Amino acid sequence: MEIGPDIDIGLESGDAAWPKVEPLMQAAWPDAVRATLPWGHIVFAHADFRVLVEREDDGVVGHVGIYRRRASLNGRPVHIGGIGGVVTRADHRRRGYATVALNAAIATLKHEGSIGFGLLFCAPHNEAFYRARGWHDFAGEVVAEQPGGQVRFDVMKPMVFDLVLRPRSGTLDLHGLPW
Ligand SMILES: CC(C)(COP(=O)(O)OP(=O)(O)OC[C@H]1O[C@@H](n2cnc3c(N)ncnc32)[C@H](O)[C@@H]1OP(=O)(O)O)[C@@H](O)C(=O)NCCC(=O)NCCS
Repeated sequence: MEIGPDIDIGLESGDAAWPKVEPLMQAAWPDAVRATLPWGHIVFAHADFRVLVEREDDGVVGHVGIYRRRASLNGRPVHIGGIGGVVTRADHRRRGYATVALNAAIATLKHEGSIGFGLLFCAPHNEAFYRARGWHDFAGEVVAEQPGGQVRFDVMKPMVFDLVLRPRSGTLDLHGLPW
């Protein structure tokens, strides 16, 4: 790991930090690339908080978005800690930045106490990355809002991080936009 004194891991308000994060997201998923992806047409929620990995000389090089959501699992209310927009700048990958940012995000969710579980959606090639970091497959159905109404959200793979609950199946209604 190259995590050292020149790295700052910080938690910031989602909208306020967006201008610092947008270039990173654009580089990872340029509009032309995004349009070709299975989720390219999806309208996503905005993060409530953001974990930023900043380097003294390079600015923001890593990001994890945190989404708090009052959802329901099999019709029962559940408070979910959503994780999304996990990105490390291409020239700073494989140094452990995404791992520390994810750990910081999970610590934030745990600190809240009332969060049932963490939930993220990922592309198939990233599943192993998350499994190796304690995330589990969620084999159930996910329902979310889109501008046209409620949809079955199945363009990415749902994975959960156990906190108070250990969900593996069932119907999860996000009661809002996905992330
Ligand atoms: C997926 C992604 C966020 C990972 O970011 P990262 O900062 O490189 O992740 P980490 O460094 O924490 O870990 C990546 C791997 O490098 C390894 N690694 C960590 N530090 C390392 C180091 N110093 N030297 C070599 N390898 C290292 C880790 O063990 C891990 O390997 P593993 O997957 O076999 O366990 C990054 O590749 C990315 O931004 N991809 C494009 C966007 C994307 O797909 N995001 C996910 C959306 S769901």
